Amino acid sequence: MNTVSDSPDYTVLARKSALSQPIYEPGKPIEDVARELGLDPATIIKLASNENAFGASPAAIKAGKRALEQCELYPDGSCYRLKQLLAEMRGVSADQLIIGNGSNEIIELLGHAFLESGDEVVMGTPAFIVYKLVTLLFGGTPLEIPLVDYRHDLDSLAAAVTERTKLIFLPSPNNPTGTANSQEEIFSFVRSLPESVIFVFDEAYAEYLESPPDLRPLIEEGKKVICLRTFSKIYGLAGLRVGYGYAAPSMAQLLNQVRQPFNINSVAQAAAMAALEDNVFIEKCRKSNQEGLIQLEKGFSKIGLEFIPSVANFITVNVTDGNAVCQSLQKKGVIVRSMASYGMEEWVRVTVGSSDQNERLLTEFNKIVRNRGT
Ligand SMILES: Cc1ncc(COP(=O)(O)O)c(C=O)c1O
Repeated sequence: MNTVSDSPDYTVLARKSALSQPIYEPGKPIEDVARELGLDPATIIKLASNENAFGASPAAIKAGKRALEQCELYPDGSCYRLKQLLAEMRGVSADQLIIGNGSNEIIELLGHAFLESGDEVVMGTPAFIVYKLVTLLFGGTPLEIPLVDYRHDLDSLAAAVTERTKLIFLPSPNNPTGTANSQEEIFSFVRSLPESVIFVFDEAYAEYLESPPDLRPLIEEGKKVICLRTFSKIYGLAGLRVGYGYAAPSMAQLLNQVRQPFNINSVAQAAAMAALEDNVFIEKCRKSNQEGLIQLEKGFSKIGLEFIPSVANFITVNVTDGNAVCQSLQKKGVIVRSMASYGMEEWVRVTVGSSDQNERLLTEFNKIVRNRGT
């Protein structure tokens, strides 16, 4: 095979923002760790990316397989049936919905639709890193406001707003801290914002809450609000890439205008519809997650590790040196995520696993802490 010996210099042609764009660091895939460390993939557990450790909805897998039989056809570019079902289940109308290739894509669509060079975007730190990446990609300026006690401080976010602010992101529960803001504080915050600002409420982990905030009244009263949800977490469909947003029809229309024509494949559409109706699976996951959080919190306390109490499907724990602990755990076949890229060098984030997975993780943590003591 020919090799490309003299790769041309494309940087002279590239957009400035592309050249300086930071690269997203995902949790390591099981196959990579197995290859690098010579481990059997079947023995490795991945608790690094806040996926669903309890798998995917069985109904969704069945529906996805069925849809695969017709993959020679383009998918429904409008996601008509998925939108109808979502509208019914979420109590919105279908024209309020935008479906994305993961909710990540909707964050990017917000950039396409609204961000111009020099626009400011207000976000907390540490918070989901994609808000910052998308802002930079479109030449915007991220204004990163430190969390207070690991929680978004809405007064500080409000104080950061200027006449150049276009978007504000609030994830609740937040990734990577697992902390949430109440409906009451969010309502008074949004009502205090100037009309020139769009409030993006990221509800990626909402299904893990008993009663998540409901921002539909704010949308109905004409506030500039979009809520984002995903099928990657409790529905267990991270690999299929589906998320959705609901907002005023005028917002949904704009985002639909700037997306690719067939952004959601047919397998993902079919699986998402089945997953939405699989209440038994969702309930089971919610309950197992709650049990898992308790198991991990008790375990961390026993070992003497500080953690941030979480209401999501992950928990962030202080291990003194996040990178080093991640490396040692990987050698034992346990993949977790260092929080160094979030500026939390001492911490790792751990996805809630099955009871056995959590036990294995705690055992490894315990060994690490005991070895340190000697
Ligand atoms: C807060 C938050 N928002 C959005 C996403 C992206 O989810 P999706 O898989 O739908 O792109 C994640 C993924 O981890 C997240 O933590």
